[in-house]
Amino acid sequence: MSAPLLELRNLHVTADENAILNGVDLTVRDGEVHALMGPNGAGKSTLANVIMGHPGYVITQGQVLLRGEDLATWTPDARARAGIFLAFQYPESISGVSVIQFLRQAVAARRQLDELSVLEVRMDLMEWMQRLGMDPAFAERHLNDGFSGGERKRNEILQMALLDPVIALLDETDSGLDIDALRVVAQGVRTVRERLPSMGVLIVTHYVKLLEELRPDQVHILVDGRIVHSGGPELAQQIEADGYESWRVGVA
Ligand SMILES: Nc1ncnc2c1ncn2[C@@H]1O[C@H](COP(=O)(O)OP(=O)(O)O)[C@@H](O)[C@H]1O
Ligand SMILES: [Mg+2]
Repeated sequence: MSAPLLELRNLHVTADENAILNGVDLTVRDGEVHALMGPNGAGKSTLANVIMGHPGYVITQGQVLLRGEDLATWTPDARARAGIFLAFQYPESISGVSVIQFLRQAVAARRQLDELSVLEVRMDLMEWMQRLGMDPAFAERHLNDGFSGGERKRNEILQMALLDPVIALLDETDSGLDIDALRVVAQGVRTVRERLPSMGVLIVTHYVKLLEELRPDQVHILVDGRIVHSGGPELAQQIEADGYESWRVGVA
């Protein structure tokens, strides 16, 4: 048996000397979709950032392992090249850059090429847009051109598809995503997995609706930097009914 795709072992993380993650264990195997849910401030984005190697966070105990290899000394670049994917949030100020130009840069960075054939990326992109049921005109849209939530998610799903990750980390950080945006993510993940069946997915969200659409293999509830419960998508109903209160540490 080869080592699991991604494993977090007793992970403790601080930022600015504040403890944020307090002993997280999580294993994602080939082809699995895991959802990480929890209230604001629980540490969900921190967890995704730490897997990507964000320099603002310090691992004080425990490990992040990719196929059994400790990533502690790996730069974010090395992780990206190894196929760990975290969607870039493009800066709002970027101006005059189209979706295809942006994605070409992302693909070039992942494949470590200075020059990537424009044609090649365009063909890949057009194929993916067709599979995902997206309007080809979307490729020519400018990134800062008043994207809706759904359009930002389309850009994110296209990044994921084109970069061919071994594990995709999707952080649904935005508040106020509408049903269209959530559906883009759920259907996008499903479609990409059909083509890349061994890809693992860890999706961070506080949207119960997304679970209902996505039907992940496992759902983990993160509260105060700890996974307090793991189960199947049926947890969605429990969260909807009770919120996270029943899982808070110290609550009887
Ligand atoms: N770089 C940082 N420096 C200091 N505190 C941070 C940093 N990043 C996150 N935090 C704090 O850690 C906690 C968890 O944040 P975050 O991971 O963004 O939670 P979530 O994504 O679950 O809402 C919050 O209290 C937040 O203020
Ligand atoms: Mg967050």
